[in-house]
Amino acid sequence: MAAEAVLDIRNLVVEFPTRRGVLTAIRGIDLTIGRGEILGVVGESGAGKSLTGAAVIGLLESGGRIAEGEIHVCGRRIDQLPLREMQKLRGRTIGAIFQDPLTSLNPLLTVGDQLIETMRVHMPLSRAGAMARAVRLLQEVGIPSPELRIAQYPHQFSGGMRQRVVIALALCAEPELVIADEPTTALDVSIQAQITALLKRVCRDRGTAMMLITHDMGVIAETADRVAVMYAGRIVEIGPVASIIRAPRHPYTKGLIGSIPSLTQRSERLVQIDGSMPRLNAMPEGCAFHPRCRFAMAQCRRERPPLMPAGTSEAACWHLNGEVSHVA
Ligand SMILES: Nc1ncnc2c1ncn2[C@@H]1O[C@H](COP(=O)(O)OP(=O)(O)O)[C@@H](O)[C@H]1O
Ligand SMILES: [Mg+2]
Repeated sequence: MAAEAVLDIRNLVVEFPTRRGVLTAIRGIDLTIGRGEILGVVGESGAGKSLTGAAVIGLLESGGRIAEGEIHVCGRRIDQLPLREMQKLRGRTIGAIFQDPLTSLNPLLTVGDQLIETMRVHMPLSRAGAMARAVRLLQEVGIPSPELRIAQYPHQFSGGMRQRVVIALALCAEPELVIADEPTTALDVSIQAQITALLKRVCRDRGTAMMLITHDMGVIAETADRVAVMYAGRIVEIGPVASIIRAPRHPYTKGLIGSIPSLTQRSERLVQIDGSMPRLNAMPEGCAFHPRCRFAMAQCRRERPPLMPAGTSEAACWHLNGEVSHVA
């Protein structure tokens, strides 16, 4: 690798011990994100996207644990840090944006006070200095009249404006990495594009690395530089967005792309992926996707395909050079 990655995840395994045994939700994930880069993490509900993000920010629900693997941020291993160290990192080195802006905002504090408080926890700033920075930040994220808005409470903002405030909050201590989990899912379609454009701009301008988690391949197509497609706790395809959208290798990725209306109108029909993701306690043998895959053959039922190089990407499918790549 040319430059050191901002985020480097190696063989991450996340488990939930239950009374009936251990459920393995993340089954060995490797990925990196570089400075200024947006890595999209996409997949259906239950694929393990949020858990991957939560493992990085040290917010796995109680019971969930990192059973194997390592997480490095800017060269520092962070998966075994004591709680206090992790809390310092959160906000300062790693910012977070979640689906519902109200979960990140305190309804009892003005937007300005939240920004100022967060900045002053992490940086040596006077109140006046923090205030000036907060105004500039609100301006940067596209909030009109920031010097007036800064004195208002979250409920006085629209959904889209509130998510801009959350983005400002995630950025206010100048983190190296931002984890954004479904940041546009709760917003009107008309607002979604504005927010993704904003995320893209801040990553470019500030050199921030971003993990953009979404179930929506359309958001990935518009925003990310690279994409990791997740299925049943594993990455099944990873590579540059442009080439994966143009020539997806994994049948599951083809299915996800087939569900983007704007991309399929031009070609043929909307492809549906029949069936649903296997339950954690009922993982099929071989390729986890094989029960839903119309190309499944004997080997797929028996042997799990590892990620294998495929052009500029990698995909975990035994058909890489076979007939699958010629079928929609
Ligand atoms: N606290 C938990 N206890 C047990 N299983 C969990 C818990 N949290 C998540 N899981 C399981 O882990 C899998 C991945 O969840 P998640 O990362 O939230 O999926 P996604 O964000 O891709 O929709 C799912 O099967 C989910 O049921
Ligand atoms: Mg999720």
